[in-house]
Amino acid sequence: MQTILKPIEITNERYRLGYHVAAKSGWINDPNGFCYFKGYYHIFYQHYPFAAEWGPMHWGHARSKDLVHWETLPIALTPGDKEDESGCFSGSAVVHDGKMYLIYTGHHYYPGDDNPDHFWQNQNLAISEDGIHFKKYENNPIISQAPEDNTQHFRDPKVWYENGNWHLILGSQSNDGLGRVLRYDSDNLIDWNYLGPVAKSNNLKKEGYMWECPDFFSLGDKQVLLMSPQGIDAEGIHYNNENETGYMTGDFSYTDNKFERNNFQELDSGHDFYATQTILAPDGRRLLFGWMDMWGSEFPEKQDGWSGALIFPRELTLKNDKLYMKPVDELKLLRTSELLNGESNINGSYPFDFSSKQYEAEITLNMDNATEAGFSLTDSNDQEMLRLQYSKNNNHVSVMRPGKDGVREVVISATDTLKLHILVDTSSVEIFINDGEATFTERIYSEDTLRFNLLSNGEVSASYDIYQLDTN
Ligand code: FRU
Repeated sequence: MQTILKPIEITNERYRLGYHVAAKSGWINDPNGFCYFKGYYHIFYQHYPFAAEWGPMHWGHARSKDLVHWETLPIALTPGDKEDESGCFSGSAVVHDGKMYLIYTGHHYYPGDDNPDHFWQNQNLAISEDGIHFKKYENNPIISQAPEDNTQHFRDPKVWYENGNWHLILGSQSNDGLGRVLRYDSDNLIDWNYLGPVAKSNNLKKEGYMWECPDFFSLGDKQVLLMSPQGIDAEGIHYNNENETGYMTGDFSYTDNKFERNNFQELDSGHDFYATQTILAPDGRRLLFGWMDMWGSEFPEKQDGWSGALIFPRELTLKNDKLYMKPVDELKLLRTSELLNGESNINGSYPFDFSSKQYEAEITLNMDNATEAGFSLTDSNDQEMLRLQYSKNNNHVSVMRPGKDGVREVVISATDTLKLHILVDTSSVEIFINDGEATFTERIYSEDTLRFNLLSNGEVSASYDIYQLDTN
């Protein structure tokens, strides 16, 4: 007899997010299938609805007309068919002939073998006419197996259209144990020709053993390979998360399949940022979603029947070979009232007089007469749940949160003016520094409404605007 599983229930709302995409309940990881279809942005996500743990992966689904108000739709893909029997893993979406095509990885364990590292993967297609109901393609898979010089790691297809053809890249690992990205092309989204690797890790410890969730696009005058390598060793202030998300810029030739590329660099400097995916929006912006968490984290919200969320959507730009991120401008549509605005000279700690769990803060700190400045979020016992500090002495920005491995750091260009754009949402904080030159994405867990304090070690003139944000 088949057991009918019921979605897990939320038992406590204390950490629930107000304006970020998260599942109604259950587990989320990577964003998938980001696309624009018939007047709506669609985002899907790796999802297990029956527990707040990773399990056989489904594709959860939400859509929005404006990127900021999201409506949850029924689950789009459920695993268990012959070509995705152990999971519908990450993938992407494109629009073709008025239909939405989802291209995703089928995950397969070997019957009777319960070692989670023993698996194989193939690539599949599902099609929708209305953007709500999906039908798996009857002749799946569309890519049945990895090339011979590859291990079992062969997943996360990203598809796009360019120069009159469809292109697909996959995250993979070659037989010598190094991460790489493979490229295919097609004229019909069904028959794919293998064209070989586009890029490969040149060092196990510096560039990793497996490249998950690749994305490949041009921005400004460069080509960007964005991906999430596993296995990079920590190096001082860099690569301190379990896995990293970052990018390489370079020049790419579609005809020779050659990517002349620079070194890998991290995209965000916080603890909780992984598995990104972009699209080219109808207005030409390069938009980004990511998982606002990290493998190996504790996920205190699991006790409450859910786990994980997506970052607030961001716009990417490239300046001097470096990616900048900012929240999409549609953020303004979420502002419901101004909680505070003004200018003050501060010296020491300066608590702000407002109280909210979902807000946006735009702050400029002029540091002509101080060497350190930043802010903290404190609970009702004055415990710091998060502190950001910029030091002019070494141009480091550090973010600290309580607990083991609580510090993350980045170096920014020397400046006397620190501009902070901060999004707070119950159990998340996203910080954009100096127009997106550096960002920190953090989950923090407190049941209190945290107090916001500006900090400095000398006289700083501060100007600020704080807006209450609408909750979906
Ligand atoms: C990245 C990832 C992907 C995979 C998915 C499974 O976080 O490991 O490579 O498709 O998650 O849920």
